[in-house]
Formats: sequence, structure tokens, C-alpha cells
Amino acid sequence: MRIAGQRKALITGGGSGLGRLIAHRLHAAGASVTVVDVDADRVRKVAGELGDRALGLAADVRSAGDMAQAVRETEDAFGGLDTLVVSAGVFHIGSLEDTSEQDWDRTLGVNLKGAFMAVQAAAPPLRSSGRGRIVTIGSDCGRRGFPRQVPYVASKFGLVGLTESVAAELAPDGVTANCVCPVGVPTTGMGQEVLDWKVRQAGESPEAIVAAAASTNPLGRNATEDDVADAVLFLLSDQAGFVTGVTLDVDGGAHLGTVPGVR
Ligand SMILES: NC(=O)c1ccc[n+]([C@@H]2O[C@H](COP(=O)([O-])OP(=O)(O)OC[C@H]3O[C@@H](n4cnc5c(N)ncnc54)[C@H](O)[C@@H]3O)[C@@H](O)[C@H]2O)c1
Repeated sequence: MRIAGQRKALITGGGSGLGRLIAHRLHAAGASVTVVDVDADRVRKVAGELGDRALGLAADVRSAGDMAQAVRETEDAFGGLDTLVVSAGVFHIGSLEDTSEQDWDRTLGVNLKGAFMAVQAAAPPLRSSGRGRIVTIGSDCGRRGFPRQVPYVASKFGLVGLTESVAAELAPDGVTANCVCPVGVPTTGMGQEVLDWKVRQAGESPEAIVAAAASTNPLGRNATEDDVADAVLFLLSDQAGFVTGVTLDVDGGAHLGTVPGVR
């Protein structure tokens, strides 16, 4: 995969997990990278790891002002912005009855409103760059329902719709927008959070839970952070220039049907 020219990228949630790896992979491909994350320590750490051609900004994706400032500082530092990766996200798990209004607001606020704020702030420079690219990180939870994950699933379904609409609206200016939907990646911050919950719920060891998840995946393993970064880098590459409005499952076939009653 080739990424021509020096991309000027902003990555929300770049302080940890998938966002951090994507920041590293883009930077290694020659891009200038702004890492945006609400956690200031993570921002400092990842920007330090990247070194030159990198900017770290502590900002909350739910804030229009924060996102506008992050875009402005990126343009000032790198002379423009042509690539946006939306990875900031929070997880919530709990039954309908145990999900509070605050849980709903926080989950939808970061995962959906936050994506909107980032895309809206970035849209002008993405349009004027003539080669704008957006990739949002959805989830298998944006493809079908799961028990005890109502706000998270709703936020990720919303993100698919947001990405499709943005793709349609920005296409006349040559901007592509696509959504990558990974199945659980146990190694990231969110992956660990999900794993901890499953351990408490099932009363089994983390190793047993991870092995069970792998054994029920059609391709027989769990997703890695590199699986997701590879898909994102493809959508940002020159070869994907004619791909827009697509939702790409990175899930080892977990979205495929199974024969009812037969494992
Ligand atoms: N790990 C998985 O199993 C998995 C599976 C499918 C989809 N995803 C999605 O991938 C994305 C990245 O998650 P991850 O697994 O790398 O988790 P992570 O927790 O390692 O990283 C998420 C980052 O988002 C940041 N963040 C949270 N709220 C923010 C806010 N208001 N403003 C700015 N930054 C904020 C966090 O500080 C954190 O650094 C998320 O959107 C998540 O929903 C993860």
C-alpha cells in the first residue's frame, strides 16, 4: 500500500490502543500526525514516542471548541489537514435497567457526538486539500445488537450512518469517508475493560475467555491491533481512492451466519 505525499493527519483517541497504533503506522508512512485525546498524559507520551512531525493535544471530542482548536493548531503546525481518523471511544456495559441517563449521555456523547464534532471541524481543510480522507472506527456492535450494550451499540450504529452521510456530502470535494468495524481486540484499553467484565461475569480466567472468543470466531482467532490498523491504512492509501461510504468488517467472519442449533 502506498501513501503518496506527506499526509497531514489528526487522530482522535490517539493516546491509546487502536488510535495510538494508527498514529504510529501513519507517522512511519511519512505523515505528520496530531494526536488528540482527553487524557493529557497519554497525549504527551504518544507525541513523545513519535518525535518530529507530531503534535499532541489534550482535547475532548465532545467539545466543538476543542475540536476547532485542534484543527487550527494542526493547520498551523503542518500547513493543512487532509486525513482524519476517529478512534476516540468509550464502552459501557450493563442491563437496560442498570443503564443510567449519564451512561447513555457519556457513551453517545463521546462515540457519536464526538465523531460529529471532529468531522465537522475537520471538514473545511479536508475539502480544500483536494484529497481528504476520513476513517471512523466503528465496531461489530455497529452491525448487530448485543445484550447489555444498548448505548454502545446505538452509538456505533449511529457512527455507520454518520460516516455514510458524510461520505455522500463530501464526495463532490474528493473527500472519502469509510468506517472500519472490528470485532473485540483484547489488547487495547477498551479490550481490557471488556475482558475484565467478562471475567467477572463468567467467573473464568482472562486466558480462558480470550481462548473461547478465538474458538468461536470463524477464522479461529481474535483480532489484533494490526488487523485494524492494516484496514485503516488501506482506506487511507492511494489504492483506496475510489472507495467511499463503505463499512468494512474486520472481524474474521464473525458477522457471518451460523446454522441454528449447530456449532
Ligand atoms: N478494543 C476493542 O475491542 C474494540 C472493538 C471494536 C471497536 N473498538 C473501537 O475502537 C476505538 C478505539 O478503542 P480502543 O480499543 O483503542 O480503546 P482505548 O481505550 O485503548 O482508546 C480509546 C481512547 O479514546 C480516548 N477518549 C475517551 N473519551 C474521549 C474524549 N471525550 N475525547 C477524546 N478522547 C477520548 C481515551 O482516553 C483513550 O485513549 C473506539 O472507538 C472503540 O469503540 C474497539
